[in-house]
Amino acid sequence: MSEADTKLYTPTPEQAQGAYVAGMEAYQALVAEAEADYEGYWGRLAKELISWKQPFTQVLDSSNAPFFKWFADGKLNASYNCLDRNVEGGKGDKTAIIFEADGGEVTKVTYSELLDRTCRLANALKAQGVQKGDRVVIYIAMSIDGVVAMQACARIGATHSVVFGGFSAQSLRDRIEDTGAKLIITADHQVRGGKQLPLKGIVDEALALGGCDSVAKVLVVKRSGAGIAMTEGRDVWMDDALAGQDNVCEPEWVEAEHPLFLLYTSGSTGKPKGVQHSTGGYLLHAALTTKWTFDLKDSDVFWCTADIGWVTGHTYITYGPLALGGTEIVFEGVPTYPDAGRFWKMIQDHKVSIFYTAPTAIRSLIKAAESNEAVHPKSYDLSSLRILGSVGEPINPAAWEWYHQHVGGGRCPIVDTFWQTETGGHMITPLPGATPLVPGSCTLPFPGIQAAVVDETGKEVPWGQGGILVVKKPWPSMIRTIWGDPERFKKSYYPEDFKGQLYLAGDGAIRDEKTGYFTITGRIDDVLNVSGHRMGTMEIESALVSCTELVAEAAVVGRPDETTGEAICAFVVLKRPRPTGDEAKAIAKQLRDHIAKEIGPIAKPKDIRFGDNLPKTRSGKIMRRLLRSVAKNEAVTQDTSTLENPAILDQLGQAY
Ligand code: PRX
Repeated sequence: MSEADTKLYTPTPEQAQGAYVAGMEAYQALVAEAEADYEGYWGRLAKELISWKQPFTQVLDSSNAPFFKWFADGKLNASYNCLDRNVEGGKGDKTAIIFEADGGEVTKVTYSELLDRTCRLANALKAQGVQKGDRVVIYIAMSIDGVVAMQACARIGATHSVVFGGFSAQSLRDRIEDTGAKLIITADHQVRGGKQLPLKGIVDEALALGGCDSVAKVLVVKRSGAGIAMTEGRDVWMDDALAGQDNVCEPEWVEAEHPLFLLYTSGSTGKPKGVQHSTGGYLLHAALTTKWTFDLKDSDVFWCTADIGWVTGHTYITYGPLALGGTEIVFEGVPTYPDAGRFWKMIQDHKVSIFYTAPTAIRSLIKAAESNEAVHPKSYDLSSLRILGSVGEPINPAAWEWYHQHVGGGRCPIVDTFWQTETGGHMITPLPGATPLVPGSCTLPFPGIQAAVVDETGKEVPWGQGGILVVKKPWPSMIRTIWGDPERFKKSYYPEDFKGQLYLAGDGAIRDEKTGYFTITGRIDDVLNVSGHRMGTMEIESALVSCTELVAEAAVVGRPDETTGEAICAFVVLKRPRPTGDEAKAIAKQLRDHIAKEIGPIAKPKDIRFGDNLPKTRSGKIMRRLLRSVAKNEAVTQDTSTLENPAILDQLGQAY
């Protein structure tokens, strides 16, 4: 980025003055504090932001690196921190959640009510036999029930694993089996864009696939009330489970390292991995980043549009804002129903002051607004907004500018937050009252996070030169392990190439030559980011070849897409002659449906191309870098001298 095309958006003096981190000097002071006394810094914040039942005496235990422990001898409860202490602190009547359903119905709960509901469910879970350390899978749509389910697990020390409602029965089954969950919390249906979609029916299917013997009970929330099958002795309506349960439930005080949740995410190889998070360190960073990155005050109305099935929904819906006693919006549905003005109308109706969403949503709403003034942000009163956020994928400068100008009225800072399921919370992000913004850059590390860009040997590269993004020191909310696979954890995140000393994020990055600002250049592994959803190309390939009657071989790559960031492009060799025309279309549809069944609709390739073969080296290795060019419909400029069958590139270059 040259100076000429770097446009800085600096916080106004008023924005800086009122913020928790007020100005760059305040930011630098925090960075310096962490550098001078790393453990002292995190220890201070852990005491300030978290209520401990038993105080910790040691901040960081590195004796079994990279299996780091934070605040290990401290005891706490996450649900106590999010609910009871707000009620005890006088916020019992404050609105905790404003829920807006797909059809627009609004339900509000106060902190007292949320605590009540959480305690009753916690008692119900205990009555169903769930104990500290057990795993509970939650497969539910966006709802207050979803948040209550997570909080209730935390309250009794059960480890929750939320599975996004868009995953298929097969994916759900795999996750249930891997966690060994004792109980599942679901709902009869979910409603998205006016359509009723099954949840309980998919749970039934998942359990029928086998391998889920650990599951004793399924609790079912009534959402649609439409008929579903209930299995005697296993399935219990939530209302029946809650009947007669006391609204007081003593929190289970757990060790700081106790696993609060497992969340499955895709890697470059193999099946999705169960990212294990702790209670103490995770909750600290959830609360701290909500406070500093969003500058969340008592008077704010915070809205993170993510689903609780993803990490963003965990940290910035269920834990962070509640730990701070904030008021937040939870919404069910999609941004384009009943029309593409839904977000803007909700901001107007609920006087949202902090709004956090994904670039894909912004890009699709830009398109809609440009063709229909009625759903343009200017048709709504968005004057309540003061801070905007972006998450999940790079935000292109044009979308950033539009978001800034049309949604933020040119006055709201945009925090472009870089982080991952594994990091638990923000890693590189502007702070709204401090950091001058550059569209397209996530700017600087959160105070205390020591990010760097290195080469293959782990040596830091000069600013202005691209490289591999790493984190030099452990931090409180980091992934603790991969559930049931500590070796994979070590290999994936603390590889030998870096002598096991650096956390490997899996992204490339470049720092601005002058400012040192970070720009994320995209994944350096075989992980795709489609509409902010993370997917492994290997998973999609496995799903394709599992269609054994049709598919002989498949290779999946990503290509840039204007709306979804990246799009999935699959190259398939069939067990029968290469189809063309309508036949190719029909088979492509069949394969897409197959993938939806194996993984979920989010993994459906946008583009499927058939070939007689795939480009391979003489030793039989598929040359994916060539496929990436073909997917982009670019001329292949790379060296193809090692390619066994160069003519195949022309064939694959023709869209079906
Ligand atoms: O590639 C980066 C991208 O999303 C990946 C993490 O995905 P996931 O674990 O699903 O978590 C998403 C929500 C935090 C990263 O490795 N990513 C996330 N945020 C940004 C980003 N890329 C660029 N800019 C961001 N702000």
